[in-house]
Amino acid sequence: MKFNLAGIEIFRIGAAGALVLALVMGSCSPAEPEAPGMRSLEESEFGPLDGQSVKLFTLTNDSGAEVAITEYGGIVVSLMVPDRDGNLGDVVLGFEDLDSYIADTPYFGAITGRYANRIAGGRFEIDGTGYELPLNNGPNSLHGGLKGFDKVIWRAKPTESGDGIAFSYVSADGEEGYPGTLESKVTYTWTDRNELRIDYIASTDKPTVVNLTNHSYFNLKDGGASPILGHQLTINADSYTPIDATLIPTGEIAPLAGTPLDFREPTEIGARIEDASEQLAFGSGYDHNYVLNAAPEGLTLAATVYEPETGRAMEVLTREPGVQFYSGNFLDGHLVGKGGIVYEHRSGLCLETQHFPNSPNQAEFPSTVLRPDDAYSTTTVYRFYTR
Ligand code: GLA
Repeated sequence: MKFNLAGIEIFRIGAAGALVLALVMGSCSPAEPEAPGMRSLEESEFGPLDGQSVKLFTLTNDSGAEVAITEYGGIVVSLMVPDRDGNLGDVVLGFEDLDSYIADTPYFGAITGRYANRIAGGRFEIDGTGYELPLNNGPNSLHGGLKGFDKVIWRAKPTESGDGIAFSYVSADGEEGYPGTLESKVTYTWTDRNELRIDYIASTDKPTVVNLTNHSYFNLKDGGASPILGHQLTINADSYTPIDATLIPTGEIAPLAGTPLDFREPTEIGARIEDASEQLAFGSGYDHNYVLNAAPEGLTLAATVYEPETGRAMEVLTREPGVQFYSGNFLDGHLVGKGGIVYEHRSGLCLETQHFPNSPNQAEFPSTVLRPDDAYSTTTVYRFYTR
């Protein structure tokens, strides 16, 4: 695994050494010359946990851009993409070793579930039956509870196409208070166009609620060494779900026009973050669910981020109805990550595609109930390019 800090590349290989599993896409067709690309899939040991091996997979595409993902929490550990001069740099926050993720992480890179974001009071009802969840965020339940999907070991298998890894986890009936055995599969695909595609599927044996997302913190400039305030953000949403002081949506769907939360036009994140606004005060900055202007079919372009110094840009496309824009307000300099970077206030931003927070208690929001006859299926793509 490579980490890039101030132009210095450090090459690190897991304790058990790296094993090259698959090489060169496109070599299956005899009529075509072999691609000269660098595509590879490496598997290494990220560390033992409770006597079990936890693996790290590194997918490198044809151009040499790469993503590393571990079985612990399905965490995206590093994501190396070029700047406008072609220099690869890591654009996600995270740690070098498993122990640091276990010790203290604000969901860096993780799959969050069974219910991403908050459920008010940790309570909901399905078909008249009430359920209670552990409270881990003031009066609310956040990101699946005390041991959510970010803290479990997912079992991973390379996909047949050779450019992806499928992560599976079975959550027992009653785990963290949620009803139903939930079988989830999250497939990460790393394309030659520098797209990280995430396909989520799940099924249950009893009615339950499901809301899965990825909680990567991005900093397109330097992976978190400096604040994200100079990044320019566009969000394809005319409205949002205003929050109360505990960050639970009030139930209203309010227009963004005229508020400092409006990102319909490309705007620097830092431009209005300190404006006097009750909503910004409640979020300690941006920590809001945007109601996406849905595409008529297929994937909706949810957001675009552009970092002018490096020229790196990212598009987020999704089938989800919302995206949580979180400006890293709770980062406070106590975490030291890859390459010794100290993650200061607002050094990373999250664009968590999702159903709206607290949907199980808001009949007007798109439903998050999954029944035994239903198939949960959703897709989000993070696409990187330069300009
Ligand atoms: C989400 C929440 C934030 C915060 C982060 C994790 O984005 O909305 O309030 O809890 O996760 O730190």
